[in-house]
Amino acid sequence: MLLALSSLATGFALASATSASKLAWWRFAGACGRAAGSDDAPMKTILLGKSTLVSSRLAYGCWRIAGTWEPAHVTAERAEHGQAAIVAAYEAGYTLFDHADIYCDGVVEKLFGQVLREVSGMRERILIASKCGIRKAGEPEAQAPYRYDFSAAHIVESCEQSLRRLGVETIDLYQLHRPDYLADPAEVAAAFSQLKASGKVRELGVSNFRPSQLIMLQRACPMPLVVNQVEISLSRLEPFHDGTLDQCLAEGITPLAWSPLAGGKLASNLVADMTDPLHARKLKLQDAVEGLARELGVSRAAIALAWLLKHPSGIVPIVGATDPEHIREATRAADLSLSRAQWYRLLEAAYGQRLP
Ligand SMILES: NC(=O)c1ccc[n+]([C@@H]2O[C@H](COP(=O)([O-])OP(=O)(O)OC[C@H]3O[C@@H](n4cnc5c(N)ncnc54)[C@H](OP(=O)(O)O)[C@@H]3O)[C@@H](O)[C@H]2O)c1
Repeated sequence: MLLALSSLATGFALASATSASKLAWWRFAGACGRAAGSDDAPMKTILLGKSTLVSSRLAYGCWRIAGTWEPAHVTAERAEHGQAAIVAAYEAGYTLFDHADIYCDGVVEKLFGQVLREVSGMRERILIASKCGIRKAGEPEAQAPYRYDFSAAHIVESCEQSLRRLGVETIDLYQLHRPDYLADPAEVAAAFSQLKASGKVRELGVSNFRPSQLIMLQRACPMPLVVNQVEISLSRLEPFHDGTLDQCLAEGITPLAWSPLAGGKLASNLVADMTDPLHARKLKLQDAVEGLARELGVSRAAIALAWLLKHPSGIVPIVGATDPEHIREATRAADLSLSRAQWYRLLEAAYGQRLP
């Protein structure tokens, strides 16, 4: 299947995918969540919160796909690489794709929208998540600082802009990106109700919310908040003891884990840094992950993701790799089931000491 990509309104031009090698990764039309010709079963799935949305066990995060945070630096080559990553994720069985209005200032959603238009049947087979609530400095007026904005007007407007960039009628899961210090729960609830009633979003959720902030908003909202997207990994354990995962279990909220590989650190070799007081601990963790990876014959990335998948709250790690091989390899996590002993061995290594 050949992509004939047109120029984007943001001013960068995308090259048409014409070479045989490029054709290879587009030639999968009709593949239902797995690479054409693959014998593998589809990725396991999970229901998101108290909703009917069915997601693949691992989600794919689109944050890095433009290869830069600056729209002006998005070259045709970067755009092509990013779009290849999206297709690789789709082929590999990921069905939940995470976005935000601020990812490369909207360019990521546009790149994704182009792929959706080119890949027949993809929209119907996937869930699209996006976020709003972070505003750039200098917008709309020059003096405005970088800030959070959960005003109803901003939530609704940002959603409408995302819909336009993605070229879709509905966003399946719409999340508030980071808690706004000035948020009025009743105002947010009104905006959510409006978006849901108009069919612009199907379900709503939050990101980076403390349990108390989630309760406060949930009390004002007529619809269940289905996810809390937070940073969780073997290198970021706070959600295990700050009440976040307890709340997810108690209230039937799905935790989405961002940076599940700590931005790649859990999958790559540590650079020796003797000035880092945590270096020895990080090395121990690396060794523990590496040891288990060898034992089970998978990558370190798969181990770190499988470790998250074991938690009974149903953590959905959001994989952020852009290298197709990394994207595919990560899916092996969905078929791994770590034992309690293996899980605790990694926890102990992550803490750097025996549990009390
Ligand atoms: N809500 C929030 O506040 C928030 C914040 C940050 C992120 N997010 C979401 O979370 C998603 C994931 O975040 P993330 O990108 O930081 O996740 P991540 O999966 O922890 O990190 C991705 C990085 O890991 C590297 N990597 C993956 N597998 C590897 C392997 N086997 N060997 C070596 N390197 C490997 C990738 O390199 P390659 O690109 O070369 O594959 C990429 O640079 C984002 O896309 C976004 O949707 C949300």
